Amino acid sequence: MGFLKYNPLKRRPVLHQKKYQDVDILLKSCAKFARDHWNPVPFQPQFTEGMNQKRTVFQKIISAFVLLVLLSGSLVLNAQDGKALFNQKCASCHAIDKQLVGPALKGVEDRWDDKAMLYDWVRNSAAVIKKGYPRAVTVYNEYNKIQMTAFPELKDADIDAILGYINTGGAKAAAAGAATTEGTAAPAAEGSDSNLLYGILTLVLAVIALILLQVNSNLRKMSDEAEGAQTAEPIPFYRNKAYIAIFAILLFLGGGYMTFQGAQGLGRSKNYQPEQPIFYSHTVHAGINQINCLYCHGGAQDSKHANIPSVNICMNCHMGINEYVKGPQLLREDGSKVDGTAEIQKLYQYAGWDPNKKAYTGEGKPIEWVRIHNLPDHVYFNHSQHVTAGKQNCQTCHGEIQKMDEVYQFTDLSMGWCVNCHRETKVQFTDNKFYSIYEKFHEDMKNKKIDSVTVEKIGGTECQKCHY
Ligand code: HEC
Ligand code: HEC
Ligand code: HEC
Ligand code: HEC
Ligand code: HEC
Ligand code: HEC
Repeated sequence: MGFLKYNPLKRRPVLHQKKYQDVDILLKSCAKFARDHWNPVPFQPQFTEGMNQKRTVFQKIISAFVLLVLLSGSLVLNAQDGKALFNQKCASCHAIDKQLVGPALKGVEDRWDDKAMLYDWVRNSAAVIKKGYPRAVTVYNEYNKIQMTAFPELKDADIDAILGYINTGGAKAAAAGAATTEGTAAPAAEGSDSNLLYGILTLVLAVIALILLQVNSNLRKMSDEAEGAQTAEPIPFYRNKAYIAIFAILLFLGGGYMTFQGAQGLGRSKNYQPEQPIFYSHTVHAGINQINCLYCHGGAQDSKHANIPSVNICMNCHMGINEYVKGPQLLREDGSKVDGTAEIQKLYQYAGWDPNKKAYTGEGKPIEWVRIHNLPDHVYFNHSQHVTAGKQNCQTCHGEIQKMDEVYQFTDLSMGWCVNCHRETKVQFTDNKFYSIYEKFHEDMKNKKIDSVTVEKIGGTECQKCHY
């Protein structure tokens, strides 16, 4: 660290000149004043070790900075953990702001004054009901005695992380939801307000550090002068090489980080959930009414694209089903109610169907569904290879679509995501005609030389398999 050696306040030889003596007394009292008022630790000017002292200030600032970076890193991690845990374990039944299978979880800590009971509830709700904890019994009865899944593996810290996500993520999710409905969704905006917070915090700390450095050098100057030593004219902070170096490093780190994040996130849109022209619910169709995915997305089985069904396919059923009466009340992401029957009327307008005359008017137009999943053009992805040959479930890649009223993008569709799955997933060799060409592997399997073959082994991580 070359710049640490640079000491603008390096002392010159002491000059014993008489005319300084009066000033000397004045300055000494100034120094005393400063000592009493500025410095909480006893002030001991260490003239011979002036440089050391400066170095300690640097070390303090730098270690404080490192600490801050580490701390903010771990905070972000925690918040993500909570979100990941929530999505993984709870999101199938709970949302933050609206009721799904279970109640909306916003403000749940207020409803449970005993936190220990809340922890126990998540780990094993039945036990808490048995104990007769009032909130447990009420909510259990309210929800028709549906048994919540037990999560004995969750520790207090995990549950805290989930609760933390519910507390903070709730507001964010709602805001993002509102943005989506206005059609101005910015899927990557999530998390930006916490970044802002860290940014401001860092700035404040930097300013404090600057002030402290300035105070420190002023004090040293005063005491130097009090001793009668002549010092160099102090260098203004914007010309001080040490400050310039720190500033440059901060700028470099911050800028680099943001550029990297931005570049990597370009074109990625995890959780993207646009509003569709018709409120078409996968919960109603694929969930409650158990319509097979392939009835509408038949392409997934035997072609590259899964395809979105045409209006005709909808009308196969909806010539007959003209109102929505049997299913549960549908809600948008922002909690507003959806009139299913009115949505079916929209379908009729697109189809050009007159439900009264039960005949086509000939004035139909295609439904402009908003595309959600979209890989960059340089990537080759084939559905039938995964669904038919690879025997992968739709849900592995798309999440529990049959429980989504409005589809959102479940994964980030990043290269890491594809490659990790190819490294981990074993291809089903037995009873799968697609792999008969891999005779060597079959033989090794038969001879028990290997017990499984991953996608990687058959070339699933070679660049040209996925890139044109
Ligand atoms: C299989 C569906 C299901 C899953 C998964 C699930 N819950 Fe629940 N949860 C429910 C139901 C249903 C209730 C309402 C009470 C009842 O019927 O047991 C409930 C109630 C709750 C309550 C009480 C809410 C209140 O208003 O008092 C909390 C807290 C809770 N769940 C937390 C969680 C957490 C945290 C997770 C994830 C780790 C989770 N749940 C996963 C179904 C589920
Ligand atoms: C009755 C027809 C129908 C059935 C059954 C159906 N879907 Fe869909 N699916 C649609 C329509 C229409 C859209 C476009 C509107 C939307 O995104 O909600 C769609 C959209 C999707 C998308 C998002 C496409 C995009 O734009 O990226 C996925 C993924 C998907 N469906 C998967 C499934 C899976 C998995 C199942 C079975 C569990 C299923 N679908 C069952 C009609 C259907
Ligand atoms: C295999 C039969 C079938 C097909 C195909 C089908 N639907 Fe439905 N649809 C239903 C049933 C059943 C209901 C529920 C009626 C009820 O609960 O009263 C329903 C309900 C609806 C509703 C009201 C509930 C909601 O989801 O908002 C809409 C809108 C709707 N369908 C649109 C569509 C569209 C658009 C397509 C084509 C992509 C389609 N349906 C294809 C059977 C079908
Ligand atoms: C191995 C992961 C994977 C599996 C399994 C999978 N999909 Fe996809 N799906 C994707 C990817 C990746 C895309 C984006 C494709 C693109 O942009 O070219 C996609 C896109 C879609 C789309 C949008 C339209 C299209 O074809 O691009 C629909 C609809 C869809 N999938 C439905 C299904 C259904 C239904 C199944 C199960 C039968 C299924 N997917 C299984 C990864 C998968
Ligand atoms: C859920 C796990 C999973 C994910 C996620 C996944 N794949 Fe695959 N992939 C498989 C399996 C299993 C096979 C084996 C099927 C086969 O051999 O034809 C496969 C095979 C392939 C192949 C053929 C490899 C070969 O050697 O023939 C390509 C290309 C491919 N995947 C591309 C992709 C791309 C691109 C993505 C991401 C957008 C992706 N996959 C995501 C499981 C996955
Ligand atoms: C299993 C499929 C798969 C394999 C194998 C694969 N890639 Fe990719 N690659 C992808 C996908 C999917 C993306 C798009 C990622 C995104 O949009 O974030 C991508 C993106 C990229 C990009 C653009 C940068 C970016 O992150 O968007 C480069 C460069 C790239 N891959 C290089 C390679 C090289 C080099 C190899 C071989 C070592 C390779 N890829 C192997 C699936 C694959």
